Amino acid sequence: MKNTFYVTTPIYYVNDVPHIGHAYTTIAADVIARYYRILGYDVFFLTGTDEHGQKIEKTAKSQGISPKELADKVVVNFQTLWKKLNISNNDFIRTTEKRHYHTVSHLFKIIQEKGDIYLGEYEDWYCIPCETFLTDNQLIDGKCPECKRPVDRLKEESYFFKMSKYTEPLLKHIEDNPDFIYPLSRRNEIVSFVKQGLRDLSISRTSTRWGIPVPGNDNHVIYVWFDALTNYITAIGYPDNSEKFEKYWPAVHFIGKDILKFHAVYWPCFLLSAGIPLPKRVVAHGWWTVEGQKMSKSLGNAIDPFSLADKYGVDAFRYFLLREVPFGLDGDFSDSAMTKRINSDLANDLGNLTKRSTSMVEKFLNGQYQSASSAGIDEKVLSVFLDCQKRYDDSMKETSFSRALESLWDFIGFLNKYIVETEPWALNKNKKTEELKKVMSNLMEGLRLIAIYTYPFMPEKANLIFSSIGFKEDIESYVRKNFDSLVFGKISGEFTITQTPDLFPRIEKEQSEIKKEEPVTEKELISIEDFARVEILIGKVKSAERVPKSDKLIKLTVFDGNKDRTIVAGIGKYYEPESLTGKEITFIANLKPAKLMGITSEGMVLAVSDEDGLSLLTPEKSVKAGSRVR
Ligand code: ME8
Ligand code: MG
Repeated sequence: MKNTFYVTTPIYYVNDVPHIGHAYTTIAADVIARYYRILGYDVFFLTGTDEHGQKIEKTAKSQGISPKELADKVVVNFQTLWKKLNISNNDFIRTTEKRHYHTVSHLFKIIQEKGDIYLGEYEDWYCIPCETFLTDNQLIDGKCPECKRPVDRLKEESYFFKMSKYTEPLLKHIEDNPDFIYPLSRRNEIVSFVKQGLRDLSISRTSTRWGIPVPGNDNHVIYVWFDALTNYITAIGYPDNSEKFEKYWPAVHFIGKDILKFHAVYWPCFLLSAGIPLPKRVVAHGWWTVEGQKMSKSLGNAIDPFSLADKYGVDAFRYFLLREVPFGLDGDFSDSAMTKRINSDLANDLGNLTKRSTSMVEKFLNGQYQSASSAGIDEKVLSVFLDCQKRYDDSMKETSFSRALESLWDFIGFLNKYIVETEPWALNKNKKTEELKKVMSNLMEGLRLIAIYTYPFMPEKANLIFSSIGFKEDIESYVRKNFDSLVFGKISGEFTITQTPDLFPRIEKEQSEIKKEEPVTEKELISIEDFARVEILIGKVKSAERVPKSDKLIKLTVFDGNKDRTIVAGIGKYYEPESLTGKEITFIANLKPAKLMGITSEGMVLAVSDEDGLSLLTPEKSVKAGSRVR
């Protein structure tokens, strides 16, 4: 088996600034590249820009600059964005580079020598925004079926590629390789398109000068899509560096569904003609809208990925895009969806697990722990891990990113419950040191693997977890030197916690004016209506932490059946925060919010105290969060 993996993104047009759609494809490709790297593959990951064609020429003209000047200006936006988003591409190709001219002319000549190119006349429609040739019956209301914009009438001499010849060979390839087009719905779409029979394709233009000249006929430039698609082989050395080319080809192409026909029909036909193996797979994802609206320059609502990454953090942004929408389906971006994901998946689930477990090792074991292999593997943790790991790997191989993350989060959720069930604080208090050490080692081993599998999605945070639990190298170099480290319980050694990180701060809702609690002054009998005005609910504690500089106050995040709320409780002298998570508590839900040490408390926890201390009121049997006390 070849131990290489080649993944590409579309090369983006330089007539526009990057938006979240571009970021999405590139982040997805980065995730898969990083994933295969930690599996030990020699990965080549390519992205770049598409700089020729009429669309670029037109935009440049409108700005009063040359197309190359436009490209030089806009390419920087893409390059800076990829840096900012931690994109680990191995190369960045621009179609105006010399190496690319060389490959495109070469490919054109090979296809010509094969007898698959002839000179003719093109007479039909052309859509400049999509750089697509269209026939009468493809138009909808006289406009481009893809972008719905007006089309131009073209009549010009043109070179044609005999695509019709490849209808059957292409169908056969798609049938023989069920993995060729992903997801399946898209594959069916392409099959029915090809089955109608392919028409020969115009592959040169005389009405624009901005492109690569047709070899031997300077009056023509090569059609921008023929030029653009060829980037995928230019970058790995075709035709001169056959060693590099053979090492990496064929590629997995990540694209949006808008350009599937070019990748799953035109490109394979060019390659079939040239005798080059077809791509391993074409993966077409869905379309992002913003707050329910199509993004576009004219609507002015294209979301700037730079500011999103600043606002929410790079890793949270990466995570959101791949977690929120199953790859292949359309998705909608909204600040509320983003906030929800950050607060629940990242701050609550992953953030709390990391904070709580590392804090307990610090506190109970002086920050030292042994590998699970020495302390004793907990079979239950192991078996849950193995199940989640398998589902994660299967999903990643199918590029089902959201499912991979769900599987990983199943394990995170399990470990959070494991803490509640094993009660390490009780083991510590009762001096059950061996048991405590075993629990903590298994937690740390789980966290280590969570860091590794989180790495493709959130490289920075994952490395932060990894270093917090005592690993000195970054995840990728560590794993690549030591593949046993992907196996639960296989590594050995003694480790030291270096920090207890706050990975993801919760995003608090905009707080409206905060009023002070009004003290009850009169003692009198009340009516049942008065009592009914007090809303007492059962809530579930999702996390708890001490309020800095206070030995009395603990800040609780409590799920009230609807949403999470923050409640500050004066129970710090009697409870450790670690022991509170998962507990069902009773609280008054409709008190006016009050500010305590700068934190707004949205409720009051009920407790009872006597001379022996303080005890929280909890229901005698477990009940649903949000149940009302009457
Ligand atoms: O088509 N949702 O470049 P392009 C999701 N140069 N993805 C989106 C998106 C959205 N709303 N908008 C854009 C071109 N994309 C050609 C490609 S490849 C040989 C040549 C992403 O700048 C998605 O990947 O118009 C889509 O396929 C690509 O950007 C189109 O980028
Ligand atoms: Mg486009």
